[in-house]
Amino acid sequence: MKNIAVLLSGRGSNFKAIYSSIEAGYIADARITTVVSNKAEAPGLQFAKDRGLNSYFVNPSEYGSRTAYDTVIIDILKSRKTDLVCLAGYMKLLSAKFVDTFKNRIMNIHPSLLPSFPGLNAQKQALDYGVKISGCTVHFVDKELDHGPIILQKAVEIKENDTVNDLSERILKEEHKIYPEAVRLFVENRLTLHNRKVNIDYS
Ligand code: GAR
Repeated sequence: MKNIAVLLSGRGSNFKAIYSSIEAGYIADARITTVVSNKAEAPGLQFAKDRGLNSYFVNPSEYGSRTAYDTVIIDILKSRKTDLVCLAGYMKLLSAKFVDTFKNRIMNIHPSLLPSFPGLNAQKQALDYGVKISGCTVHFVDKELDHGPIILQKAVEIKENDTVNDLSERILKEEHKIYPEAVRLFVENRLTLHNRKVNIDYS
């Protein structure tokens, strides 16, 4: 049984997709043991509370540095025997200490085909640039923003006259497929890293 912790800041639709995939048995042998938010009002945190999951709001304004803040979260996650940390719309940079503590056990989802368009408003960045295809990426997290070995990606075509909302919605649908899929592969021990590249065992 793998213990999953989710870090989020907002809506939490990717968290819900992972949660539902576990409930439905698509991801077997895993449970969400902890949900942490840096925002008290995050709807994703409320969803977790409503389901009786261990949920924590950790207030960044109470800590003087990113490392001090992350240390609190590390302690929570360690006490919950966390095997995998899923960032699901967690809009806060992780400290080096956090990344080292859970090395190769932190995943993130980002709404672009990385390495294109890291950072905020990835869908708007793609539209502003004029690319014809964007998409989403699940990757292991390293010390750079929206960076690290890529696990799964899905391309999404950009249509003429797409608004940021149109494109975000189409990408989000794919996010909700590839994130649970990546978690499932991790839980089934089918992901290995070689030279910073992810190999997937499909046998
Ligand atoms: C998602 O689109 C996710 O890819 C993005 O934030 C949104 C969170 O939605 N993450 C990033 O941009 C990370 N750099 P959600 O709260 O409904 O899962």
